Amino acid sequence: MTLDVSQLSPREIYGFLAGAVAPRPICFAATVDAQGRVNLSPYSFFNVVSGDPPMLAFAPLLSGRDGSAKDTLNNVREVPEVVINIVNHAIVEQMSLTSTAYPPGVNEFEKAALTQVPSDLVKPPRVGEAPVAFECIVEQVLALGDGPMAGNLILARVVRIHVHDVHATAAGELDPSQLDLVGRMGGNDYIRAIPAALFEIPKPVRGLGIGIDGLPAHIRNSTILTGNNLGRLGNVERLPTEEEIAAFQQRPDIKTALRGGREARHRLAQTYLERGETETALLLLLPR
Ligand SMILES: Cc1cc2nc3c(=O)[nH]c(=O)nc-3n(C[C@H](O)[C@H](O)[C@H](O)COP(=O)(O)O)c2cc1C
Repeated sequence: MTLDVSQLSPREIYGFLAGAVAPRPICFAATVDAQGRVNLSPYSFFNVVSGDPPMLAFAPLLSGRDGSAKDTLNNVREVPEVVINIVNHAIVEQMSLTSTAYPPGVNEFEKAALTQVPSDLVKPPRVGEAPVAFECIVEQVLALGDGPMAGNLILARVVRIHVHDVHATAAGELDPSQLDLVGRMGGNDYIRAIPAALFEIPKPVRGLGIGIDGLPAHIRNSTILTGNNLGRLGNVERLPTEEEIAAFQQRPDIKTALRGGREARHRLAQTYLERGETETALLLLLPR
């Protein structure tokens, strides 16, 4: 299906945007108003947008009902500082509770029984339970429209980072298997980055992969290999030489495999690919 945006309502468009641009990380934003009253709310229109300067961006929309501004937006206009807390599974329900439209001045830390820890460099406090928290200075607020559901892009420069010890490796880096992060899908759905859901894609940092178009046609057109399998093969920097192929074919286990016919060879190569043994897979696939 192909959709003409001019024929859809803003709500319908929103459904495709929020459903497809997913999973989204969650910015749990703590701000204060001019009177110093604390606010805490989640925003999943959120990402990192610059490494140096270190910048995060998130976007409170104007209310879909009446076009009014959210407290977070009003606050950063009054006091251009924010603490962006990262949400993991242990606090996901408390985070959801804070998205209730409480009146201005209500402290959602208290509503959700989260620990308010004073920040080092900015006025808003951080969430003590969050695995990682970024103290930020708001550099820009960009209004992307003025009607209901219009986004307001907040660009926040990170000035201090807090990481709970349990989530860092011995080398002091973040440990993805410990973080237990959650993301927002469309509607009421969330996703949890448990260790079983994590996978690695080996990527050469030096040199250039030959690309799928650099593979012989009989491999590219395989009825067994998937796009993912071909993507991994396209990462090799060169095809093996005739000598390397000949030496490989002398291995007793490989001699047997080569007798099995093309389909069996492609299936075996697929197993090697999934184990990360890309070179062996390629050597198996190269004979026509
Ligand atoms: C996980 C999650 C993500 C959300 N993301 C956004 C968002 O990106 N933009 C937005 O305007 N509202 C978003 N909301 C809704 C706001 O959190 C909600 O409107 C909240 O009441 C705003 O609080 P405030 O008025 O105190 O700033 C989200 C809610 C949840 C639970």
